[in-house]
Amino acid sequence: MSSKLTELTSNNVVWHNATVTRARREAQNNHRGAIIWFTGLSGSGKSTVAHAVEEALHQQGCRTFVLDGDNVRHGLCGDLGFSEKDRQENIRRIGEMAKLFMEAGIIVLTAFISPYRGDRNRVRGMVGQGDFIEVYCDTPIEVCEMRDVKGLYKKARAAEISEFTGISSPYEMPETPELLLNTGADSLDRCVQEVMANIAKLGIFTSTHLNQDFEVKNQYQENGTQL
Ligand SMILES: Nc1ncnc2c1ncn2[C@@H]1O[C@H](COP(=O)(O)OP(=O)(O)O)[C@@H](O)[C@H]1O
Ligand SMILES: [Mg+2]
Repeated sequence: MSSKLTELTSNNVVWHNATVTRARREAQNNHRGAIIWFTGLSGSGKSTVAHAVEEALHQQGCRTFVLDGDNVRHGLCGDLGFSEKDRQENIRRIGEMAKLFMEAGIIVLTAFISPYRGDRNRVRGMVGQGDFIEVYCDTPIEVCEMRDVKGLYKKARAAEISEFTGISSPYEMPETPELLLNTGADSLDRCVQEVMANIAKLGIFTSTHLNQDFEVKNQYQENGTQL
């Protein structure tokens, strides 16, 4: 399948090759660029784990960036809603943006529900083998709903929000993610360790980065407010 949803509208655009290549940036950073793509229901733990992994990577000297759902919808994707077509366009833009970060040598962590398998696979197809690491935050909907971090499940049940993933809009779970996290039952610390071990095994860091310990930080307080 083509990585593009739309064809170019201009004929007069010509790619300019940079002399500072991805390989040179990665050599300077001493780690690879990659896209760590977190997917799962609202409240499954994508943002919490992504930010905690970023913290751990940062403490080890890696260059990182988190692209987070709600933040991106305030800006780049502020013109999009939650219909299937808009969700598809949302993921396409995020995929393109994540790819740019990766080419800049950065480990980019994305935290979007990204409910459609086809949309996620399209992003996978836009980048090279091993560049896209899909991490499924596998929390049962009952647990997400009990957490209700943003009060959105309550609103969705009261039909105050339409097209809410898991309730009035589908979620297609990954069939073969690089990593499945049991974010419904395991501790945050364990989930972070699993992601770190997995991306180390995939060769995203060099071993020097792994010699130090890191501290896992949760960006949420017990009452669910963001620190
Ligand atoms: N193992 C875990 N991983 C991630 N979050 C967890 C975990 N255990 C409990 N939680 C809690 O679940 C909630 C997940 O919320 P959030 O990260 O905003 O979800 P999402 O970004 O997927 O919508 C947070 O309140 C977090 O503290
Ligand atoms: Mg989130």
